[in-house]
Amino acid sequence: MMDMTNYLNRQLSGVKASAILTFANFAQQIPNVINFTLGEPDFNTPDHIKQAAIKSINDDHSHYAPANGTLTLRQNASTFLAGKYRQHYTPDEIIVTQGATEALYTAIVSVLNPGDKVIIPTPTFPLYIADVTVAGGQPVLVNTAATGFKLTPELLTETLAREGDGVKMVVLNYPSNPTGVVYSSEELKALADVLRDKPIFALCDEIYSELHYDQPHVSLSNYLPEQTILVTGVSKSHAMTGWRTGLLCAPQPLINELSKIHQFTITSTATVTQDAAAAALGAGKDDALPMRDAYVARRDYILTALNELGFKTIKPNGAFYIYTKIASDLEQDDEKFAYDLAEKGLVAAVPGSYFGPGGEHYLRLSYATSMAEIRQGMTNLKDYVERQRAE
Ligand SMILES: Cc1ncc(COP(=O)(O)O)c(C=O)c1O
Repeated sequence: MMDMTNYLNRQLSGVKASAILTFANFAQQIPNVINFTLGEPDFNTPDHIKQAAIKSINDDHSHYAPANGTLTLRQNASTFLAGKYRQHYTPDEIIVTQGATEALYTAIVSVLNPGDKVIIPTPTFPLYIADVTVAGGQPVLVNTAATGFKLTPELLTETLAREGDGVKMVVLNYPSNPTGVVYSSEELKALADVLRDKPIFALCDEIYSELHYDQPHVSLSNYLPEQTILVTGVSKSHAMTGWRTGLLCAPQPLINELSKIHQFTITSTATVTQDAAAAALGAGKDDALPMRDAYVARRDYILTALNELGFKTIKPNGAFYIYTKIASDLEQDDEKFAYDLAEKGLVAAVPGSYFGPGGEHYLRLSYATSMAEIRQGMTNLKDYVERQRAE
C-alpha cells in the first residue's frame, strides 16, 4: 500500500506536534492534579457580550459578514486601539480574523517567500515557528535568556548582521507567552531604530495588551507604523477564547493584500461572534480591568511561594504566566521534573524547554486558575520539593 503521507507538502514534516498539548493531556488524566498548564482565562465572557450575541441571533444576523469584518466591529476596534494605546488604524486597516491565530497565519503566509528568514526571540509561543515552517520560511531562533527574556537592539543588530539580507520578519510578543515580560517604550523605540527603513516587517502579537500590569501598554506600532503588522483580539482581554475573534491591523495598502489570504482561507468570521466582539470593544472596553486585578493578586501569591522554595523568576508584568527557574538543588531536566512533579506532586506546569532555546531548566505556570487552586497547587509544590530535598 502506498504511504500517501510521503506526498504531502514537505514543509509539514518539519512541523512538530505540540509537546505542550501532549503534556497537558497527560496531566489531565492524573486525579486531583492542580493544573497550571492552561493558556486561557478561567473567567467567563461578561454577560453583556453574551446578550449581544443572543440579540444578534434573534435579529437574524445569520448571513455572511463582509470579508474584513462588520463595519461596527472594525469601528469599535479602531476607537479601542486609539483610545487605549494610541494605535491609529482606520476601520479599513483592520481585518477581523478567526482568533489571533488566523491573523498570525495570514500575516506570515502573506509576507514570506520560500527561504525567507524570520527572527523569533525565544522562549516563544510555538505557533510562530510552525507557521513560518509551513510557509516555507526559516525560523531564526534568538535565545534571550541572558537578556531578561527580551530581544535587545544589540541582539537584533547582531542577528541581522549574521543572517544577512534574508531576514524578512521579526516576531515580537508582549506581554509575552510564556515569560510574562513586557517592553518599555524606550526598549521598543530602540528596536524600531534598528529596523527602520529596512525591508523587514515587525509582526507584533499583542493579544495580552489588556493584561499589562505595572505600566501602560505600548506598541512598536507607535514607533514603526509602516513596517508593523499588529495582531490582537478579544480572546484574553474579554475571556472570549472560544468565540474565535481576532484582529489583524496594518497600513493600507498592505491590508488589501493580506485580506486575500484571509478571504480565500475563511471568507469571513461568524457574524454573531463579530456582534459579540463589537460589544466587547465598545461598551465593554474596560471589561479586562477586574480580571487584570485578579491576575495581579495571583501572580504575587505564586511569586512569593516560588521565591520561598528557591525558584528564581523574572517578575512577569503581563499576560498570565510565570516562567520560573527550577531551584538549582533539584532535578535540572525540566521535562523530567515536570512529569515527575505532575505524577508525584500533583502540580502540572509545562516544561520550559518546550518554548525553545533559553527555556531549559524552567517551568511555565499559568495562573489563569482560581486562587483556591493556586493555594493548593503551591502547597503541593512545597510538599513535593521538601520530599525531594529530604531524599
Ligand atoms: C501569544 C499568543 N498569541 C496568540 C494566541 C492565540 O490567540 P487566539 O485564541 O485569539 O487565537 C495565544 C493563545 O494562547 C497566545 O498565547
